[in-house]
Amino acid sequence: MSKKVLITGGAGFIGSALSKHLQELGHDVFVLDNLSFGRRQLAGVPDDRFFQCDIRDRKGVYEVFDATRPNWVLHLAAVHFIPYCNQHPAEAADININGTISVLDAAQTKGSVEQVFVASTAAVYPIADGAMDEEHELGPMDIYGTTKLATEKLASEFHLRSQIPTIVGRFFNAFGPNETNPHLFPEIQRQVLADARTLQLGNLDPKRDYIHTEDMSCAMSALLGQGIKGYDTFNIGRGIEYSVREVVEAFERQLGEKLTIEVDQARVRKVERMHLLADVRKLKLVTGWEPNWSIDEGVATLLKEDVDL
Ligand SMILES: NC(=O)c1ccc[n+]([C@@H]2O[C@H](COP(=O)([O-])OP(=O)(O)OC[C@H]3O[C@@H](n4cnc5c(N)ncnc54)[C@H](O)[C@@H]3O)[C@@H](O)[C@H]2O)c1
Repeated sequence: MSKKVLITGGAGFIGSALSKHLQELGHDVFVLDNLSFGRRQLAGVPDDRFFQCDIRDRKGVYEVFDATRPNWVLHLAAVHFIPYCNQHPAEAADININGTISVLDAAQTKGSVEQVFVASTAAVYPIADGAMDEEHELGPMDIYGTTKLATEKLASEFHLRSQIPTIVGRFFNAFGPNETNPHLFPEIQRQVLADARTLQLGNLDPKRDYIHTEDMSCAMSALLGQGIKGYDTFNIGRGIEYSVREVVEAFERQLGEKLTIEVDQARVRKVERMHLLADVRKLKLVTGWEPNWSIDEGVATLLKEDVDL
């Protein structure tokens, strides 16, 4: 059944894929975003469904809820680029914690909301070698992960006080079109499309669980479609990890050319995890969800995409 859906952060990288996906499913999508990192056109909604608003502006957020009367709220707005959060810890905490409080308070107060989805991150887990399931101990190692662990606690407390069913999704590393932060995929994409065949990159060995934004969007709609009661947490990843070198090899396969890598010391992170891998059995068991996008298919579309170089 069609729902009125409010996506915070819907002009961002993952939120824009989610907006498109939910509209394709027939839902009425509204987007709230302050466009600090997102771009207006990415939201994919007409002007009367787009609200430029900061989630820390309680009055503004309440007005958006009054104007939209959402059934589902998907709260993705956050600052999350780890180097930015490290440089601006107070701002990261303010947005990711105080901003979440105003979104959840509005969801409780306004009376229309049936389900809430809150975006968390694999960064709430400590350093570990193997795949981590949702019961794994938590232990963020940076300010970003710490603010997101607080976001999870706020979501749990919100559920207790409101009784509104609430799902937390721990996103692993997203890839896909329209990435707004200079992560690995858009960085390689930018350099390759600028005709570089010697890439300047940071640490080459860390492995990450990369999941396409369309697959993430399908996982979120599948979870909400289950009508899960109560409060629950799900990893949203693919269950496969790739090193930086292996991602570069995927670009080589699509280009049909060899790429040389030079380690740029300025890009090397001083504190780095070597593995970050999701156990996604719970997501699959509850929803029947399966990922559709391989790394190679995703890279092929990135090489066709027009980017601002
Ligand atoms: N990209 C990833 O690999 C990844 C991994 C784990 C978790 N996440 C989480 O997923 C969510 C979306 O991330 P993304 O990759 O799409 O990032 P993004 O920066 O593209 O999207 C975040 C959006 O939130 C908006 N925003 C930021 N501060 C705001 C504020 N104060 N008020 C209103 N809007 C604000 C930005 O303009 C942007 O459009 C975030 O919660 C992030 O923590 C992302």
